[in-house]
Amino acid sequence: MYLTNDQERMLKGEYGIAIAESMNIIVKIGELYNADKLLKITSAQVSGISYKTIGEAGIKYLKHVSENAKVSVPTTLNPAGMDIEHWEKMKIIDDNFRSKQLEIVELYKKMGIKQSYTCTPYLGDNIPSFGDHIAWAESSAVIYANSIIGARTNREGGPLALASAITGYTSNYGMHIEENRKATIVFEIDRKIKDYSLLGAYIGDYAQEGIPYLIFNNVTKYLLKNLGAPMATWGSIAMYHIEGVTPEYKKNNLNGLERVKIDEKNLNEFLKKKIGNEGSPELIAFGCPLLSAREIKNLCKIITAKPKKSTSPEVWICTSRFMASKAKKEIAKLEKWGAKVLLDTCMVVSPIENLYGSTAVNSAKASYYLPKKSFSNQKIIYNTDKEIVEKYL
Ligand code: F3S
Repeated sequence: MYLTNDQERMLKGEYGIAIAESMNIIVKIGELYNADKLLKITSAQVSGISYKTIGEAGIKYLKHVSENAKVSVPTTLNPAGMDIEHWEKMKIIDDNFRSKQLEIVELYKKMGIKQSYTCTPYLGDNIPSFGDHIAWAESSAVIYANSIIGARTNREGGPLALASAITGYTSNYGMHIEENRKATIVFEIDRKIKDYSLLGAYIGDYAQEGIPYLIFNNVTKYLLKNLGAPMATWGSIAMYHIEGVTPEYKKNNLNGLERVKIDEKNLNEFLKKKIGNEGSPELIAFGCPLLSAREIKNLCKIITAKPKKSTSPEVWICTSRFMASKAKKEIAKLEKWGAKVLLDTCMVVSPIENLYGSTAVNSAKASYYLPKKSFSNQKIIYNTDKEIVEKYL
């Protein structure tokens, strides 16, 4: 791989050990993928914030890095394992978890990373431009940045994104290269489909990898964040195109590509076979990906239309600090109604297994992770937000 003189000096340790180690990770991974050079990045998004997901080994690694380096580009953080300022709202948080989580937060602060705690940085905390090279680790944000914005990022692991944040570089392979961003399969989607989360899961599960090209008329743009997140989870997809909507769709040649039709019957069968939509939830959790201000406003209308019953399960509404600042009135109304609005965290990366055994969600991404025995061990009840409110509140 070609390195400039300055990049060579970084690698040799002339700028300190953490920069040398970070450069070494980036160059080694780049060589593995036959990258020819390094690219300057304009931003990074780091994952691996929750104590639940990184544990003691993660803390040890972050201590080492934070003692020796700071980030060199604007960098945002994924959600943590609890609401950083109001953890007392979450009955699941014990003293040990709280102190470990706060320790992690301090380590990231020391490195100069913005305390955003969101998987939707593209909604305001960290917005790249078309064509920017970036190094983002959160798969739902990666697919959004590539598809909807036209920025360029691979699905980075947490340590690799952090290494890029420190050095300001990523290596030139995968989604940074024009020809790897072309469609590999076409989906023709029935315009009656409204559940973008379930649709994303179906596409991800079917395609598994590659770049889906969707022919989908009548798209609601602000809901596209909910389409990409499960696509990137049920498959390892980093980008998709939508005809007439996304910025790079015109660059594709669809001749010879497999074509798949999707209608509501396909989605219902998928829901029954792979997720499940029946049962009595102990917890209802909205916000995976974390809710936008517009989604909070919509949810507020649906939820507060009727009073909370004494038998209703606990309701979590997960969003970011930035989005919460845009929906203060609705958040106050939801809390008065009896919902818990949680910032900085989500139902997947917080330790819900400490208290709950069954959770209702309207997120097909959460439906993928929550049932895993070694992770959250939940029985999942998937429904749309309206169905959840009608059935359980
Ligand atoms: Fe975000 Fe948590 Fe879902 S980090 S995409 S809300 S799993």
